[in-house]
Amino acid sequence: MPRLHSRSEESSRPISDASPVFARAPGKIILAGEHFVVLGAPAVAMAINLYSQVNVTPKNGSGVDIDADIPLRFLAGRDRNPVVPDPRQLLHPLQLAAEATVKQVGGIDRGLRVNVECKIPVAAGLGSSASTTVAIISAVARSMGTKLSKKEIFKLAFVPENFLHGKPSGVDQATCIYGGMIQFTRPFTVTPIRLEKRPVILACDTGIHHATRALVGAVVQKSRREKIRFQEHIAKVKDISGGVVKALKIGDDEDLGVLMYENHQILRSIGVSHPKLDHLVDVARHAGALGAKLTGAGGGGCIIVLSRSIRDRDRISRVLRREGGTPYKVSMDTRGVEPQPT
Ligand code: MEV
Repeated sequence: MPRLHSRSEESSRPISDASPVFARAPGKIILAGEHFVVLGAPAVAMAINLYSQVNVTPKNGSGVDIDADIPLRFLAGRDRNPVVPDPRQLLHPLQLAAEATVKQVGGIDRGLRVNVECKIPVAAGLGSSASTTVAIISAVARSMGTKLSKKEIFKLAFVPENFLHGKPSGVDQATCIYGGMIQFTRPFTVTPIRLEKRPVILACDTGIHHATRALVGAVVQKSRREKIRFQEHIAKVKDISGGVVKALKIGDDEDLGVLMYENHQILRSIGVSHPKLDHLVDVARHAGALGAKLTGAGGGGCIIVLSRSIRDRDRISRVLRREGGTPYKVSMDTRGVEPQPT
């Protein structure tokens, strides 16, 4: 895996007095409401146990150096051919996150080295960019002696997230910040959901990766052209989202599964699915899943599958792998972003 480096302007200042800090942030999946959350509907999302980790250490001089390990092996285009990304494109948002934080927490330009290790597949709908962003923000602030509130981290995260995704709703960063299961409505209503039991979920990657910015932009455009149709979709997604919260609260997996599949059909009807996503969803359902849907921006990336039991999940996972998917047995992260001194 290649290591990527970027650095901002240097001066010949002495070693900075920033303290070394480690932070970790989870990835995320969306159980209901992606795309429609940009248009005002509530989404339901869960933080997952795939993480990005950030180490911040002081360095000589001023400015921020970024050093990143990003799992590029996961990247492929719609045709499944590998994509060779421009490292600057990948590093720029990380640099933006660190620099916006330095500015926010006092503007004293102390020299920092930020080492990012992302264990979340990139461009797969699992929140890799939001996770690295919130881990950087929280670690950089803490290394300069400031503990940012969740809301402050949320706001700052829009700097790199807007650069990457155009006009995101903020659901990704909110989930990575809070951890657990949340219902999110823009601009910033976050309601943690108390679960009766944890749903048994599998994420499965098509290996086809997407650009969230283009997909979100296309849906917003379409919603302007097809106002009435989208009003109906938004009303349905509101109901689905509310139903998902209720099912999670009472532990009704049957209902949850039905709602997930309904949500997939709506996403499909607005053109953000992909034949491979639809195929894996069908395969999972025929293999006994209670529900399945695409998760995140779509156009490729991952599906999520709800299973009756761990045993069922493992069996469905093997079936999906035979169909060319890459399964991840994810569970819920409950902690969200966490900085700690090293
Ligand atoms: C991406 O994980 C979720 C989208 O709804 C975009 C957003 O909410 O910013 C597709």
